[in-house]
Amino acid sequence: MDLNPWLDRTKLVVCVGAGGVGKTTTAAAIALRGALSGRRTMVLTIDPARRLANSLGLDQFGNREARIDLSGMEGVKPGGELWAMMLDARSTFDALIHRVAPSDEVRERILANHVYRHMADTFAGSQDYMASEKIYDVAALGTYDLLVLDTPPVKNALDFLESPGRLVNFLDERVLSWFLDGSRSSRGGMMFGTSKVVFYLLGRVFGEQFIDDLSQFFRDFEGLYEGFRKRHQEVLDMFRAPTTQFVTVCAPSESSVDVASFFLSEFERRALPCGGIIVNQVHACSGQTHDAESVLGATARSLGGDLPPAVAASVVARLGMAHRRLHTLAMADHALARGLKSRYSGRLPGFFQEVPRMEDEVHDLPSLREVGRALFDQDAAPLSS
Ligand SMILES: Nc1ncnc2c1ncn2[C@@H]1O[C@H](COP(=O)(O)OP(=O)(O)OP(=O)(O)O)[C@@H](O)[C@H]1O
Ligand SMILES: [Mg+2]
Repeated sequence: MDLNPWLDRTKLVVCVGAGGVGKTTTAAAIALRGALSGRRTMVLTIDPARRLANSLGLDQFGNREARIDLSGMEGVKPGGELWAMMLDARSTFDALIHRVAPSDEVRERILANHVYRHMADTFAGSQDYMASEKIYDVAALGTYDLLVLDTPPVKNALDFLESPGRLVNFLDERVLSWFLDGSRSSRGGMMFGTSKVVFYLLGRVFGEQFIDDLSQFFRDFEGLYEGFRKRHQEVLDMFRAPTTQFVTVCAPSESSVDVASFFLSEFERRALPCGGIIVNQVHACSGQTHDAESVLGATARSLGGDLPPAVAASVVARLGMAHRRLHTLAMADHALARGLKSRYSGRLPGFFQEVPRMEDEVHDLPSLREVGRALFDQDAAPLSS
């Protein structure tokens, strides 16, 4: 299965997976590949490793779109551009309020409200939610042919997929109307029963100023509810579009395979478009075992002619041990990867691809290109078989 046509017809790739498996690396490598093939590409990264951010020049740009210089790369097709941005969750949330506020006055009041500032800090902390908001903004601009979304390592994978709904749920009309009715009648002095007790207690615990801020905040937010709900639906539509592809990245470790498995079940359950599975950092080994003495013994003895014979023998023995270790690791990696693949074969569409563990960290354009080659220049297995 050739992944090049798959990438050509995709407009948004979302990379999800456990912490540290290589989501940011994979997202950047896919984006670079898109740019090399002549597409105007944007990768939205979250906390990239410092060395990678440095070498891409992202450090100087912060959360603004930064164009990555590809002039040193050979074979960039005409039109190919690589842009990158790091997520700034806080300013994304403020921008969201700017967009949905019905008037300048309401917007300014909300942005200055203490309760909003507190809530914004809480929501800005959920980078997954903010990333989905930001990518929707970038997609709506329509200036890029391909978008690649990196995601943060979330402990509960559900958070990422459900996060766009969190605000809407938080602003659920029933909660709002209860509070609004309560705060209105508390001002008019016509409150009975539970509401009266609750408002009295809230006032005692948090102070009158806080209750006033909270009431004002809810009153202002009342007008935003519809805007949020509409936007939430649009964000969901974007994630469900057939030109969007979710890719789950894992490493050959039981825990990250479990997380990948969880994501795959979620794709299935939520009818999200599944692109495939990438098993990253697989120990590369042809699968053949070699006898070190018969492969290297003669060479070692002739090269080490002036050394005591025991030295050559010891070097060969150590290399043999290292090879056996690598072989064992590679076999274990393949067994884990095969287990994951067989669990989803025939259940989900998409590809299954392995990317070898590189000698060094993947921290610059040439090494990202290497990862891209491993992904796109060798056939992947289809999940459908
Ligand atoms: N195929 C690979 N070979 C060698 N090193 C790799 C490979 N893929 C990723 N790495 C290295 O592994 C480290 C983690 O990668 P990366 O930052 O992409 O993971 P992540 O899943 O985004 O992590 P986090 O969950 O913390 O965001 C980095 O130092 C990266 O250079
Ligand atoms: Mg990352």
